[in-house]
Amino acid sequence: MKIAVFSSKPYDEEYLSQCADNDLELRFYEHKLDHKTAVISKGFEVVCCFVNDDLSERTINELADNGVKLIAMRCAGYNNVDLETAEKRGIKVCRVPEYSPHAIAEHALALLLTLNRNIHRAYNRVRENDYSLNGLLGFDLYQKKVGVIGTGKIGATFCKIMQGLGCEVIAYDPHPNNDVKDLGIQYVSLEKIWAESDIISLHCPLLPATRHIINSNSIYQMKQGVALINTSRGALIDTREIIGALKTGRIGYLGLDVYEEEANLFFEDKSNLLLQDDIFARLQTFPNVLITGHQGFFTKEALSAISAVTLGNIRNFADDNLDKMHLVTS
Ligand code: NAI
Repeated sequence: MKIAVFSSKPYDEEYLSQCADNDLELRFYEHKLDHKTAVISKGFEVVCCFVNDDLSERTINELADNGVKLIAMRCAGYNNVDLETAEKRGIKVCRVPEYSPHAIAEHALALLLTLNRNIHRAYNRVRENDYSLNGLLGFDLYQKKVGVIGTGKIGATFCKIMQGLGCEVIAYDPHPNNDVKDLGIQYVSLEKIWAESDIISLHCPLLPATRHIINSNSIYQMKQGVALINTSRGALIDTREIIGALKTGRIGYLGLDVYEEEANLFFEDKSNLLLQDDIFARLQTFPNVLITGHQGFFTKEALSAISAVTLGNIRNFADDNLDKMHLVTS
């Protein structure tokens, strides 16, 4: 089976090649998949894609015309795939529902700990021979109230970590998780999350119901100086509104691993180019904002699991074992 791997980086090639066998012929392309690059898919039965590939109607029609039968997402999220068009054109879509919830939950914690103890600023100061502490005052996480939105695999793992630090955790999810309830964590309304949390961490998928869940209305209800962490999807946050809230101090700390318009920025070295995104540029001017470029998933353990599950999905497709695949339907 011939597989075209799009948005491929050296680490994708390394980890996917380790799991491949002779039945699977992998070709690696650095190009992001969109309607223009879809021409590459001619002669391939499978395209393997990532979070910022553009799998909208136009691209999928092009893939179908080229004979592609399977879109194998090597990630959990699939908000960038037009599932209805895929179904209409007879293309199956699969994903990796779980690889390492720890990778992303621990990254959320890394963002939080860096922000609350100003590690990013301290690192630069010490390198400049500046050992002053002014402006680096932190706060204890111990006994702080943490609001977790979305308690699936990653959110539940984050809940456990924060409990381990002695925080009081409350959660919101339309489908409460019994494992989380068993930890003694209380499910509450969103209003209560906004009103009571010292720290809010987003772990829900991007859906019409969750797009801009952080907006002027929800921000207005939050505690002054709240810490907000988003490792889920950028469009959960209305970035323009968040800039206003950073200016007034309502948002005291902002840790982002994802950004609404990240598709044009992340995963590439753009250091020789002028930054065109003014909103992103403004975000970076705040000392209490920390941004990483969608690297929550980027651990050795997660890459191994992603490769194994992705190629397992493709093997099952080749063997017509559709019930063993992690298929996604609309
Ligand atoms: P999951 O499917 O296990 O959990 C998602 C949870 O969100 C479910 O419990 C669901 O009931 C809940 N949910 C659905 N609608 C909601 C709403 N309106 N409000 C609150 N909660 C709602 O997913 P998992 O594996 O925990 O991943 C969560 C998200 O993390 C993914 O959707 C993806 O966007 C993001 N992610 C980010 C990565 C990164 O590298 N930064 C890597 C992997 C995932």
